[in-house]
Amino acid sequence: MSDPMRPRAALRTAVVWEVLQDALERRVRATGRQALDILDTGGGSGNFAVPLARLGHRVTVVDPSPNALFALERRAAEEGVADRVRGVQGDAHGLFDVAERGGYDVVLCHGVLEYVDDPAEGVRNAVAALRPEGVLSLLASGLGGAVLARALAGHFTEARQALDDPNGRWGTGDPMPRRFTAEQLTALVEGAGLRIGAVHGVRVFADLVPGVLVDTEPGALDALLRLEAAAAELAAFHSVATQLHVLGETREARGA
Ligand SMILES: C[S@@+](CC[C@H](N)C(=O)[O-])C[C@H]1O[C@@H](n2cnc3c(N)ncnc32)[C@H](O)[C@@H]1O
Repeated sequence: MSDPMRPRAALRTAVVWEVLQDALERRVRATGRQALDILDTGGGSGNFAVPLARLGHRVTVVDPSPNALFALERRAAEEGVADRVRGVQGDAHGLFDVAERGGYDVVLCHGVLEYVDDPAEGVRNAVAALRPEGVLSLLASGLGGAVLARALAGHFTEARQALDDPNGRWGTGDPMPRRFTAEQLTALVEGAGLRIGAVHGVRVFADLVPGVLVDTEPGALDALLRLEAAAAELAAFHSVATQLHVLGETREARGA
């Protein structure tokens, strides 16, 4: 799946799309179904849900924000996939008030664990929404990336504060409620009963390089995308990535 978003935005999402593409293709082959059932918890206005529906999958988005769901509905209609995208108001903790337990081939939980009251419960619920053969795509803010970014911006005290803070926050002005290490995320996924399929660092360099370099140097964007893809796989870079992506697989899916 090439990144279905605009080129500059691809820097934020290319690695995740690449991993998702492989996981979806494997699920399609294993199930023999072209259209998978996907749950996007905290899916917001459909950054992932709408492109996934464009690939032919059926996507249920659960999100507490009426504004996000309104934007999702409009976007799905504009992209001609309204029949394959269902938005419902709800949250990760009361997930089964609005979503089917054990009803989905793939569950996305992207940029949500940072905000939920209890991340372990959020992951457990996401996993409980999977069919016996299913895949969890978990994306969350990385601690090390934030520390590095604050330090490179000259905010050394804030960088240190983020390192010491149990939630990885650099101060009261930090808009992010919580950040994670790769070890914390994989522990949450394994604690919910899945095997780790892969861990990737997302936006290792993209947020650190001046935008002007990427926008004006010929070929720079493509070269940076290739560099991000190469670094994403290497554990050495996980500790400094802005976000971390973890693919979790049920044991049955792993065997398929
Ligand atoms: C950073 S946005 C991510 C949106 C989308 N997943 C994406 O990757 O583009 C965070 C989303 O989480 C939603 N959210 C916040 N608290 C939540 C909760 N307790 N359960 C589910 N979603 C929540 C917000 O409404 C928002 O749409």
